[in-house]
Amino acid sequence: MVYITRKERFNAAHKLWVSEWSDEKNEEVFGKCANANWHGHNYDLFVTVKGKPDPVTGFIVDVKKLSKIIKREVTDQLDHRNLNLDVEFIPKGLQPTTENLVVLIWKQLEPYIDGCKLHCIKLYETENIYAEYFGEED
Ligand code: NI
Repeated sequence: MVYITRKERFNAAHKLWVSEWSDEKNEEVFGKCANANWHGHNYDLFVTVKGKPDPVTGFIVDVKKLSKIIKREVTDQLDHRNLNLDVEFIPKGLQPTTENLVVLIWKQLEPYIDGCKLHCIKLYETENIYAEYFGEED
């Protein structure tokens, strides 16, 4: 089994907030991500698929095609958007954390991965923090 990864980027705004909590508690739990008037992140998205290299092409997947799918299903819908309000595939009321985004991105992409298997969605929110999802329910 061989793994290959395509990297894509998007920029988006969000706010992490629980309306039942006080401003102080929201700031304590979510820090800068609780800023009342939104803030942005430069996200780095890594999509890894796995399979056996084709005997003729040597490819597991045509990464140009994979990139088009990622753009169509994910980054075009997230880039320069407000993740709390603007994105159809993010349920309203769900905190748009990196942890929740990797699961939603997996669900967006998985039906379109053909001839290989989706292995991992890895999303950097900052250069120091990333979340990964391998398709496991628990
Ligand atoms: Ni944030």
